[in-house]
Amino acid sequence: MILVTGGAGFIGANFVLDWLRDAGEPVVNVDKLTYAGNAATLAPLDGDARHVFARVDICDRAAIDALLAAHRPRAIVHFAAESHVDRSIHGPGDFLQTNVVGTFTLLDAATAYWRTLPGEERDAFRFLHVSTDEVFGSLGATDAAFDERTPYAPNSPYSASKAASDHFVRAWHHTYGLPTLTTNCSNNYGPYQFPEKLIPLMILNALAGKRLPVYGDGRNVRDWLYVSDHCAAIRAVLERGTPGATYNIGGWNEQANIDVVRAICALLDAQRPNPSGASYAEQIEFVKDRPGHDRRYAIDATLIERELGWRPAETFDTGLAKTVRWYLDNAKWIEGVTSGSYRQWIDRHYA
Ligand code: NAD
Ligand code: TYD
Repeated sequence: MILVTGGAGFIGANFVLDWLRDAGEPVVNVDKLTYAGNAATLAPLDGDARHVFARVDICDRAAIDALLAAHRPRAIVHFAAESHVDRSIHGPGDFLQTNVVGTFTLLDAATAYWRTLPGEERDAFRFLHVSTDEVFGSLGATDAAFDERTPYAPNSPYSASKAASDHFVRAWHHTYGLPTLTTNCSNNYGPYQFPEKLIPLMILNALAGKRLPVYGDGRNVRDWLYVSDHCAAIRAVLERGTPGATYNIGGWNEQANIDVVRAICALLDAQRPNPSGASYAEQIEFVKDRPGHDRRYAIDATLIERELGWRPAETFDTGLAKTVRWYLDNAKWIEGVTSGSYRQWIDRHYA
């Protein structure tokens, strides 16, 4: 079996759902269920014996040791993190704790466990660390995209904590020989994304008749990747990646924020026209910029294509259309997340 951390969050849950849908082996899903973790996302797996959920903090060494000893995974896929840049600006402490101390705790526990494995299992073991393109800092308009040799230059508390965790992973491979893999991916979007991130926030605000708050001049650029494409890339790296290597993952899809917001408005205008007849784009409002806001991220995903044969399957048009459709069709999940009732459900379910 494999052990996944953060599998109740946006990308981790998509990964677990895709993995088990495609008849993957069993998964131990380790998640603390912070505000960003949502057990309701995993409801389709209720009663599926291949999914074992453990509400555990990755900083809890004894609990991690016990899970490794009990389930003896062949791999760890590490998603768990504090992941929202805006929250990291208001409260960086949790980011250091989970992203740095938590990753260290997992690495140390994984190394102790890995050393106990017999020869072939030891050789086959992998620790896959899921990271972000934000560790590379900000690009100018004409700079070349980030590749695997780009020096680290993190600018936010979030990206600094992720950069630190990447360095620990690198050091655990170099010093102790742990068979690690690191992936640095661009902005993800798709089903089950917590609605404080750009794309779901804009969809839900538009439908609620609220303003669509675009930071600064709206010309900050992100590379956007549909979440199931990211999950497929992680599976490729897990199965065929070279231990010790890092792989950049991206959508070949740079977009200015204002263009993303306008595209969302156009899809909503077509699929759920505003009763007033006005375009949702009329709700766009430029607001005060995020402090230290990185201007542009772009990913050169040549290596993973050349070495592992992975390329995104979705274009931005197809991925965004699916995403808008999903938010229109999943009012119950959205209500659970936005009303806070999913917390009560968790308390009841795990009492
Ligand atoms: P998310 O915030 O939606 O989910 C994080 C999950 O981790 C939640 O379920 C949360 O409960 C859990 N968690 C947090 N602290 C924990 C702890 N101490 N112990 C156990 N579980 C804990 O994040 P996401 O968007 O799904 O991102 C997953 C990973 O991918 C992160 O490592 C992030 O840095 C990386 N990443 C995200 C993006 C993106 O666009 N969202 C892009 C590139 C990389
Ligand atoms: P976000 O989804 O928070 O991801 P990240 O900061 O990791 O890239 O934001 C994506 C982009 O959208 C980023 O440039 C900030 C911008 N943004 C807004 O303009 N308005 C908003 O309300 C939010 C949440 C983000």
